[in-house]
Amino acid sequence: MNKKITVIRGDGIGPEIVNEAIKVLDKTAEKFGHSFEYTDILMGGCSIDAYGVPLTDEAIATAKAADAVLLGAIGGNTSTSPWYKLAPELRPEAGLLKIRKELGLFANLRPAVLYDELKFACPLRDDIIGEGFDMMIMRELTGGLYFGERKTETVNGLETAVDTLSYNENEIRRIARRGFDIAMKRKKKVTSVDKANVLDSSRLWRKVVNEVSKDYPEVELEHMLVDNCAMQLVRDPKQFDVILTENMFGDILSDEAAMVTGSLGMLASASLNDTKFGLYEPSHGSAPDIAGQNKANPLATILSASMMLRFSFDMDKEADAIDNAVKQVLNEGYRTGDIMSEGMTLVGCKEMGDLVAGRI
Ligand code: IPM
Ligand code: MG
Repeated sequence: MNKKITVIRGDGIGPEIVNEAIKVLDKTAEKFGHSFEYTDILMGGCSIDAYGVPLTDEAIATAKAADAVLLGAIGGNTSTSPWYKLAPELRPEAGLLKIRKELGLFANLRPAVLYDELKFACPLRDDIIGEGFDMMIMRELTGGLYFGERKTETVNGLETAVDTLSYNENEIRRIARRGFDIAMKRKKKVTSVDKANVLDSSRLWRKVVNEVSKDYPEVELEHMLVDNCAMQLVRDPKQFDVILTENMFGDILSDEAAMVTGSLGMLASASLNDTKFGLYEPSHGSAPDIAGQNKANPLATILSASMMLRFSFDMDKEADAIDNAVKQVLNEGYRTGDIMSEGMTLVGCKEMGDLVAGRI
């Protein structure tokens, strides 16, 4: 198969981790008789430096014309980088929000898995970890507080800021369907997270999720308030299979779930629209402090590339080959600094990419 991939290397460690993912993709293509064609676009700080905006319309058009997008990371140090002195709509993150909206990427899948090999990195007690955990956070990505009307104005002499949290039933229904579809392929449990004891948007969320659940009689559905969910994630993460939630709650809970695994450098993510198209990126950020030093962990980006093969290209065998190569390299004891422990072999970003590519 021939597939067109738009590549966003981005800022910080973005370029180096994307290089390693492409190395692994090329090896996979060679092995399985595919060809991947890459086109680079700029997004984030590097686009601000080149064009004065975090994402140009031309870049969006290029991304739209591809079969999928592979993203490294964007953004810089928010206290020192000049990008953060710009108006909010010109900062690096605005590019990310724009591409999500323009490409209609409403379904954000963030797996949080405890790798057996990396159990030591989990900050939870052994009795809580038990046999380990494997959950999928399904975050709504193009609605809610992130895209509602906002303004800052002076009201009765006081500076006042307003953000709006709004969802309509269709926006809730389509993400709920995605959540239940994914649960059908996993342990068949959905935990829908909301704040229905306070928010109208959450009460509608709960109602629509209940309706959708009728079409999935095999899936067990439970509702959980977001504050309780934040607590349950550290009390007993094993209880979760699919966590289905709105944009802002998903932003917060997905970072918590990632931290609970102890290996943020391993976690991939996919953002999908209602076709096969998707944007794939590691769950971690641009880590400007270690950029360009060959220290970054490329595995989350490599695993994101594997998700791209699985979800956008229907290449399950190929995706399995990448996932297994990653497991093999970990089993052989190779580690980047972020997941290093005693007795293991420390390698750099580039070497880690070589090792994985060598095992495809
Ligand atoms: C994420 C990030 C973004 C978000 C930021 C960078 C705008 O935290 O992808 O989780 O809040 O969605
Ligand atoms: Mg976040």
